Amino acid sequence: MPEKREFKRLPTDVVPSNYNIRLKPDLDAFVFQGQEEIDVEVKASTDTVTVNSLDITINEVTYASGDTSVAAEVSVDKEAETATFKFPSALQPGKGVLKVSYTGELNDKMKGFYRSKYTMPDGQERFGAVTQFEATDARRAFPGWDEPAVKASFDVTLVVPKEKVALSNMPVKSDTPDKNPNWRVVEYDRTPVMSTYLLAFIVGDYDYVEGKDADGVVVRVYTPVGKKEQGKFALDVAVKTLPFYKEYFGIPYGLPKMDLIALADFLIGAMENWGLVTYRETALLVDPTNSSATAKQHVALIVGHELAHMWFGNLVTMEWWTNLWLNEGFASWIEYLCVDYCFPEFDIRTQFVNSDLGRALEMDALHNSHAIEIPVGHPDEVDEIFDAISYSKGASVIRMLHDYIGDESFKKGMNQYLTKFKYKNAVTEDLWESLGKASGKPVLDVMTTWTKQMGYPVVKVGEKQDGSNRVLTLTQEKFCADGVQEKEGSFTWMVPVSISTASDPKKAAVVTLLDKTSMDVTVPNITPDQWVKVNCESVGVYRVQYSSETLDRFIPAIKNKTLPPRDRLGLQNDLFTLARARMISTVDVLKVVGAFVNEDDYTVWSDLTGNLGQISILLQNTDGFEDFKTFSKKLYKPVAQSLGWDAKESEGPLAAMLRELALTRLGKYGDEETVTEARKRFENHVSGKVPLPADLKGPVYLTVMVNGDETTFNQMMKLYDEADMQEEKVRISRCIGSIKSDELKKKVLDFAMSDKVRSQDTVFVIGGVTGTVQGRELCWQFVQDKWTELHERYKGGFLLSRLVEVSTDNFVTEARAKEVEKFFETHSAPESSRVHSSSIGTRKVVL
Ligand code: BES
Ligand code: ZN
Repeated sequence: MPEKREFKRLPTDVVPSNYNIRLKPDLDAFVFQGQEEIDVEVKASTDTVTVNSLDITINEVTYASGDTSVAAEVSVDKEAETATFKFPSALQPGKGVLKVSYTGELNDKMKGFYRSKYTMPDGQERFGAVTQFEATDARRAFPGWDEPAVKASFDVTLVVPKEKVALSNMPVKSDTPDKNPNWRVVEYDRTPVMSTYLLAFIVGDYDYVEGKDADGVVVRVYTPVGKKEQGKFALDVAVKTLPFYKEYFGIPYGLPKMDLIALADFLIGAMENWGLVTYRETALLVDPTNSSATAKQHVALIVGHELAHMWFGNLVTMEWWTNLWLNEGFASWIEYLCVDYCFPEFDIRTQFVNSDLGRALEMDALHNSHAIEIPVGHPDEVDEIFDAISYSKGASVIRMLHDYIGDESFKKGMNQYLTKFKYKNAVTEDLWESLGKASGKPVLDVMTTWTKQMGYPVVKVGEKQDGSNRVLTLTQEKFCADGVQEKEGSFTWMVPVSISTASDPKKAAVVTLLDKTSMDVTVPNITPDQWVKVNCESVGVYRVQYSSETLDRFIPAIKNKTLPPRDRLGLQNDLFTLARARMISTVDVLKVVGAFVNEDDYTVWSDLTGNLGQISILLQNTDGFEDFKTFSKKLYKPVAQSLGWDAKESEGPLAAMLRELALTRLGKYGDEETVTEARKRFENHVSGKVPLPADLKGPVYLTVMVNGDETTFNQMMKLYDEADMQEEKVRISRCIGSIKSDELKKKVLDFAMSDKVRSQDTVFVIGGVTGTVQGRELCWQFVQDKWTELHERYKGGFLLSRLVEVSTDNFVTEARAKEVEKFFETHSAPESSRVHSSSIGTRKVVL
């Protein structure tokens, strides 16, 4: 490999103000022709102009200023992803137009301007051309200043086959026949001043549903042809969401239209191109009868996430990728507010504690974690920070800050920040400054301790009753997953601490800032038997360690559920983790877990299940696994029984989700009653007698697979072939790997690589076989055997890191760790050096 050169940003002596881009994709030859006229300003005289350009053939470059026009020689630096235009003499300061004509490939890598294959209702396969530019792939579609801080406006023209739908960020300005009658020329209105990574072009066959938001913004959801009904749910969410954000930020959306589109091939979950947000099908399409509650919730969150970027990210953009976390952390937090507003029945803000905070705390306790803000240079490094720290920890520290300064100050500060930096760029400190001003609190000082150093603290609680007061001694130290303190560096955080008590469980009785290693806090009006909980509602990004006696006081409050769900969840999660780090005894954990006998909250169950799942992975390697199964069956039986198999008319989505969770566990651990019922329902489903309702498909499929044979396998494959919805295909393909037989597992691995599975999904199908010890062996062997092919397919993208994660994650021995390490000494996967996160596949799949 060539030695890595120092990374440099583009020179700024020539900057663009407007790009006029004309693109003509050829959907048969998979190439495109491009022409650009870029209005530039030469700020300092120079005879070279360097722009980003990758996998593009530049045919001609000229620079015109006044009446003179000069041509340039072009040289390309592939590693730097740039092209340099050298002119015969220096360009003089002033304005001019840079003209570039070029050709490119419509690639099959889901990056830049790429081809996407879809099926028409009559079964015909067709190709379209679509884009994914973030972080650094706009340079594959047009030469330009592909850095977030170099903003400009864009006039886009697409020349397309006459019967195709053609979309870009803005509404159509003109749509006229081309000289060649088989083609049309579609011109779009000029965009606002924006970053290159937010531009998008789409050419293909689509249907759409349309609505208008309260302010008259035209919202459309584009779907595959024949499936426009499936766009209605997302349309509803979007139409409600735009006014919600408008109110929250105090700033209107700004563009006249908002399109959301489901693409057949899409690398990530979704992308916030301004005015034209792109999604994978499972992140946007909902079928009224065939989509599960979980799927709907997922769509609502991801729509809420991307639309938040229209303000936070698109209107105000991070100055450089180092601040990617600001975009992603913020959107990953506010999506919950939006879904809570649209669908309070999901109690989604409690789910945050399980999904994002839980994940952040888990990943950030590892020695190889990193600070939220991390310097990045070369494009390869940008993909690496598409991870749980930027997303989930970022979202968690923003949630903590929001709680610390309060909603009013937060909104006020957001409005100031967005107003001050609109159409411009900002760094993290700019946001802290606005929020600090709005709240009068030391936001910069507090937040710096959370974004510039990795990890987070465990707060140890000592206590003494003093008359009617309880005096708590709070001491912080860095928490490490293995209980071993880092040798270097002394870590302290400024920790906003809130404390609730038994007399008013839902409200913080004391709020304070723990800004040193240790301090005393007095909690007034409390009797010796009453519980006192540090980290009310689990809003802080830290763990809490109590003494064994203190823990005892929580037990009745867990049993009778007077301790609120987010607190029950957090308490239990801390205990499991502290025990794993050998900081408390497992007896304490079991004692408290035993108190969850009456638990009925979906999210608490989900978190508990995750923690038990981790134990199960260890026990799978021992004789103790049978006992664990028996224990689990007993644990989930009462919930499952109280919910029954059939949905009650009045029940909400959380009941459906809890039923799914409990039945899945029981089925997986071979509970006889559950297996029998699942088989019966499966047979009825397959024969068409009684189709399964969407929410039962997950647990029934998994149960029959785990306990199934070749016949079940073939039945399931048939269902896969017949399935029309991506949601169903994904559900099936991720669970078929749980079949017991090794031979069939191997078939699943081959199936994952076949063209029956879209490249965007392969990795997760491979991951589906890792539910057992044997499956993990098979998977790891398979990945090693097929490494060259897999690497070629996914290199330089985040799916490669997911692949490494799924195939190595749950090994439990030192010898395996060494083996994995050794393999990657000779097989490069730089994308995988960190823990990753994306909405696709991260919703905690418990093995
Ligand atoms: N802007 C991101 C996608 C992105 C980030 C692309 C960094 C390339 C580099 C988008 O807003 C996003 O976060 N997508 C998530 C979904 C979200 C709900 C977590 C995804 O694709 O998983
Ligand atoms: Zn995002």
